[in-house]
Amino acid sequence: MTESITAATDGSPAAMAAVKWAADDAARRGLPLRIVHVVDRWPYGVAAFPPPDWADLAARAGEQVLTEAITVATKYRPDVRVTTELIEGSPAKVLREQVGTATELVIGSRGLGGFVGALLGSMVLHVAGHVPGTVVVVRADAGRPHGEIVVGVDGSAECEPALAYAFEQARLRGCALRAVHAWQRPVYGLIPEIPADIEEVHRFHQRMVRDKLGTWREKFPEVEVVEDVRSTHPVEALTDASARADLVVVGSRGMGAAGSVLLGSVSRGVLHHAHGPVAVVHS
Ligand SMILES: Nc1ncnc2c1ncn2[C@@H]1O[C@H](COP(=O)(O)OP(=O)(O)OP(=O)(O)O)[C@@H](O)[C@H]1O
Ligand SMILES: [Mg+2]
Repeated sequence: MTESITAATDGSPAAMAAVKWAADDAARRGLPLRIVHVVDRWPYGVAAFPPPDWADLAARAGEQVLTEAITVATKYRPDVRVTTELIEGSPAKVLREQVGTATELVIGSRGLGGFVGALLGSMVLHVAGHVPGTVVVVRADAGRPHGEIVVGVDGSAECEPALAYAFEQARLRGCALRAVHAWQRPVYGLIPEIPADIEEVHRFHQRMVRDKLGTWREKFPEVEVVEDVRSTHPVEALTDASARADLVVVGSRGMGAAGSVLLGSVSRGVLHHAHGPVAVVHS
């Protein structure tokens, strides 16, 4: 695998924000940026429907999307080497393949389709967590920088690649890293709450986070780490922290996910509700 950052664009505002995010990241890492656009030859899934000159029209429109993207990227980040590629195929399938060939794939949270009020485009759930690799999902309305990266921590081995990615991002940006761990009291409908020493449970979770971060702190002594343990739902904790963060990093699934689930409910919830960019890191 050649090291490069890939941004996928359909020409939408969120995709343009993804291209800029990817250009920034490429500059930070000293990597080239590849911008791809996928043209679907059979947009109705029926061979009879596109008129005979459709493929040419679509390819020309696709080239225009790429020209706009490379113009924005090179003006925004003249220090990054940028190439473009027009790929024919089903967008979901092609983008999934892209995750495996790039260091990371950066996409917009929405595209040109969808419906009013939709929080996420279908591409996001098609690619995030489905193939080994990192997918970064960027929203159109990038706010001002906060100087903090957030990473979601649970007790599972799946969050190790997310920690590696988050520490590296914090180091590259000279940012603080907030390690958020949320735990919840069990909820029962009909029986009263099981008596427990809540303070002790909380301390147990704090110790887990401290242990989990130990070797990473040693490896990245320059990164300032904030351990943030909360008694609430993890999606709520991470969404709340995302309002003051430049990036939220999560693993593709954690402790609770069944073996067949590719994207855990926390990662999915964070993708839906986070206020800024989200990186889903799959081992
Ligand atoms: N044809 C494409 N080529 C390259 N990237 C694409 C293409 N379509 C979508 N993307 C990427 O996926 C992101 C999300 O778009 P997506 O298509 O999932 O959302 P949408 O158009 O709002 O909804 P829908 O799921 O109905 O298409 C875009 O911002 C872009 O980065
Ligand atoms: Mg779309």
